[in-house]
Amino acid sequence: MAGRSRSLTSAQETEVPGKVSSPARISLTVNGSRKEAEVEPRLLLVHFLREDLGLTGTHVGCDTTHCGACTVLMDGRAVKSCTVLAVQADGRAITTIEGLADDGELHPIQEAFLLKHGLQCGFCTPGMLMTATALLQTNPHPTEEDIRIGISGNLCRCTGYAKIIESVQYAAKSAHSPEPRSGPNSGRSPGRRA
Ligand code: FES
Ligand code: FES
Repeated sequence: MAGRSRSLTSAQETEVPGKVSSPARISLTVNGSRKEAEVEPRLLLVHFLREDLGLTGTHVGCDTTHCGACTVLMDGRAVKSCTVLAVQADGRAITTIEGLADDGELHPIQEAFLLKHGLQCGFCTPGMLMTATALLQTNPHPTEEDIRIGISGNLCRCTGYAKIIESVQYAAKSAHSPEPRSGPNSGRSPGRRA
C-alpha cells in the first residue's frame, strides 16, 4: 500500500493545474443497447462498464493485465477491458457476460460450463466465457491445444483448467452434434453473439 500511495502522490505532483482533459462524448452499443455518455479520456472501459453502466459481471482481478477476468467482446473480438479506454470503444459493439444469455436462456457456452463443472469460485468465469465465445467464433473445431492457447490470457486461481477445457470442448461438440440436444438451447451456436 505504501508504494501505491507514493505513486499516487507523485502522479498528483506532476499534474499540471488547468491541464485536465475535458470529458469526451462516446456512443457505443452494449449488449445490443445504444449507450451515450460523457467520460474522462483516461477512464478504462472496465470501469465504464462496471461503475457507469452497473455491469459488474465483468471482473477486475489484477492491475497488471494478466488475469483476463475483465474480458469482453469488442466487435466480436475478445479484449481485456482493463487495457482499453472507454473512448476507444466509441462507435463499437461491446458484449459483456450479461449479454450472453438470451431472455434468461443460457448461452451454449454457459450451459457447457454448468454441465461440465467448468467453474469453482467463478471469479474468472465471466472472462473465460467471453474468451471461449470468441475462440469458438473463429475456430469452431478447436483442438485441446487450441483451447489451451486460446484461454492462455485468462487465469483461473482455482486452477480448474481441465474442467474448463472440457467445457469448451463440450460446447464446440454440441454445436456440431447431428443429434439435437435436449434442452432449451439446442441448436444455438456457442459463438452466436461474438
Ligand atoms: Fe486482470 Fe484485466 S483485470 S487482465
Ligand atoms: Fe475460481 Fe477460476 S473458478 S478463479
